[in-house]
Amino acid sequence: MKKDQFFSENLISWYKKNKRNLPWRKNVNDENYPYKVMVSEFMLQQTGVSTVIPYFENFINRWPTIVSLACAREEDILLAWQGLGYYRRARNLLKSAKQICNQYDSKVPTSLEELQSLPGIGVYASGAIRSIAFDKKAVAVDGNVKRVLARYYGFSGRLDQNEKLINEQASKCCPDKSNRQYTQAVMEHGALVCTPKVTKCGVCVLSSKCYSYKNKIVDQIPEPKLKTKKQKLNCISFLSLKGDREVLLKKRPKNAILGNQWELPSTNWSKTKHKFDKNLCPIPSKHWNKLDINFTHKFSHIDLSCSVYFSDADSSKKLSSNDEYKWINLKDISNYPVTTMSLKTLNELNLIQI
Ligand code: ADE
Repeated sequence: MKKDQFFSENLISWYKKNKRNLPWRKNVNDENYPYKVMVSEFMLQQTGVSTVIPYFENFINRWPTIVSLACAREEDILLAWQGLGYYRRARNLLKSAKQICNQYDSKVPTSLEELQSLPGIGVYASGAIRSIAFDKKAVAVDGNVKRVLARYYGFSGRLDQNEKLINEQASKCCPDKSNRQYTQAVMEHGALVCTPKVTKCGVCVLSSKCYSYKNKIVDQIPEPKLKTKKQKLNCISFLSLKGDREVLLKKRPKNAILGNQWELPSTNWSKTKHKFDKNLCPIPSKHWNKLDINFTHKFSHIDLSCSVYFSDADSSKKLSSNDEYKWINLKDISNYPVTTMSLKTLNELNLIQI
């Protein structure tokens, strides 16, 4: 049997026996199945399966159909996403749901062009949705799949150096049928057997034809990613409390990182440290005291160092009528999509418990 066909056929039979019982794999004949696949693919970009499972279940219980999602408030979607990170995915998912309801009669579209016209759906996600949701012949090459192919065919070097080769090979391996199973089989194999560090070549159904296994170089493929330097930025956050229980929060700008989430009012994020200045403060107060806490919040591409100033708010002064700012009772804070860094600050000061 040819090497490409051996790859797909063996992985499909392995998958049938060994697949995990994941919630987005249930009820393939249900009319909401494509919607569920779409939600799962949005969540699984950048986030591991075990983290995603409870978020997915909660999300589908709350918004079981694409129509229910399209009618949801963005604030509620962000709240349901809280802790998953990469919040742009949540906002794109909502926009895509609305577009599908408006343009495609509330049915997830099946064509590549239509899918890729939706916010947050690119080459990978469109391939994943077409194959998994609709059983179409389409490739979905994520990090796991790239590693499996690179090892099996012996593409030495880093994955990003072999992008073209890997994509061409992925297309050659793609079978004419059983695409729903095949796409998930390769991902599953990468997640359970051909894992980044501890490979389980002893149980691998591909090993007899695997280039890296035969040449004993599995641990050398792929070569590690180049480390990109993270940007180091700084900010000051302002904690104002009114009558002990109410905290002043501000909604972040729509198009910024963490867009539309609530946070302790903060300066912009800058390369140099801000000097404290009353003009930076969100509300007038006689005393702003620097608290003895400093955080570094790690994002995928930024390390943000944050110092915190505190003031007891002068309750006689009114906020300018501006709905970016809100006094929120600490007991209600879990009803708002608040940034993880502000939650950590409030938690550190024993004002809330996370
Ligand atoms: N990663 C991305 N999509 C996935 C899926 N459908 N199942 C498991 N892991 C995945």
